[in-house]
Amino acid sequence: MKAEGDPNLIVYFNGQYMRLGEAKVGILTHALHYGTGVFEGIRAHWDEAAQELYVMRPKEHYERWKQNCGILRIAIPLEAEELCRITLELMCRNDFRTNVYVRPLAYKSAERVGVSPDAEDAFAIVALPFGEYLHAEKGIHAGVSSWRRIEDNAIPARAKICGAYVNSALASDDARRCGFDEAIFLNESGHVAEGATCNLFMVRKGKLITPSVTENALEGITRDSVMELARREMGLEVVERPIDRSELYVCDELFFTGTAVGVAPIVKVDHRPVREARIGAVTREMQQLYFDATRGHLQGYWNWLEPVYQSRVELGQDRDSLVGSVAV
Ligand SMILES: Cc1ncc(COP(=O)(O)O)c(C=O)c1O
Repeated sequence: MKAEGDPNLIVYFNGQYMRLGEAKVGILTHALHYGTGVFEGIRAHWDEAAQELYVMRPKEHYERWKQNCGILRIAIPLEAEELCRITLELMCRNDFRTNVYVRPLAYKSAERVGVSPDAEDAFAIVALPFGEYLHAEKGIHAGVSSWRRIEDNAIPARAKICGAYVNSALASDDARRCGFDEAIFLNESGHVAEGATCNLFMVRKGKLITPSVTENALEGITRDSVMELARREMGLEVVERPIDRSELYVCDELFFTGTAVGVAPIVKVDHRPVREARIGAVTREMQQLYFDATRGHLQGYWNWLEPVYQSRVELGQDRDSLVGSVAV
């Protein structure tokens, strides 16, 4: 799915709340030419019964963002706690009563030509209504890409660097044109790295297996949540090890994980059914556990969630004018 921004959305940009339609960058901005930005993706899930919006692990996302910005030497002058507070304030100002995707973006902001970056940095946080990313109710068909995953020594895949997503865009575009729903990347040693926008898990011989984070995969927060749910709630052994391409063809179950995709079952790979091309029992249970955990229905995981409306965030700047008039 593509989530387009309503120009009336309230966003946080250059240290202020403002309308999305007014948040602009210049054509010579360094990041626009050279990809020198680092972004994040955070989800908030609306629970109709509780009339509450739960932001999923925002502190972990902001800590990862700040660490990854360090790789590009982009400075974010705020702590993760303050970034979480701004995110809650954005939700309140927009008065969202639906599922939401939050996109923090930090970037090299100098407006000039020349690749070597200097110390001018900026950041924005945009939150927008967001539905399903992949339509995965019946399971999806994934294809192994002919594009290889970027190497850590070229552009670190763990860092969510804007320019690195050219790799994902090439693979996704190719996959869709070939009739697949999503691409699977192999790394330069020929092992499975991850999907174009998500991590990958395989069930084989009763174990849950995923490539380790040194295989040129993003250190996914959903990946981490799924590993914890598998161990604690399902009693499954979780193994991080290299996965061969041909294991994808003989495994019992496969699924993707990610903030945008959630837990997305894969029922076919490269035109071969995964078992009977039906969603397997482990995947189904994991989908339910993840759904419950992200909506506050699973005891023991409330520490993953920030409830927006219970938190009674005080609105700061322009509290009367910059509040929700957003159609969702
Ligand atoms: C390339 C890639 N891998 C994996 C993921 C999943 O990471 P997370 O679960 O932290 O969203 C993403 C999500 O943005 C991604 O872009």
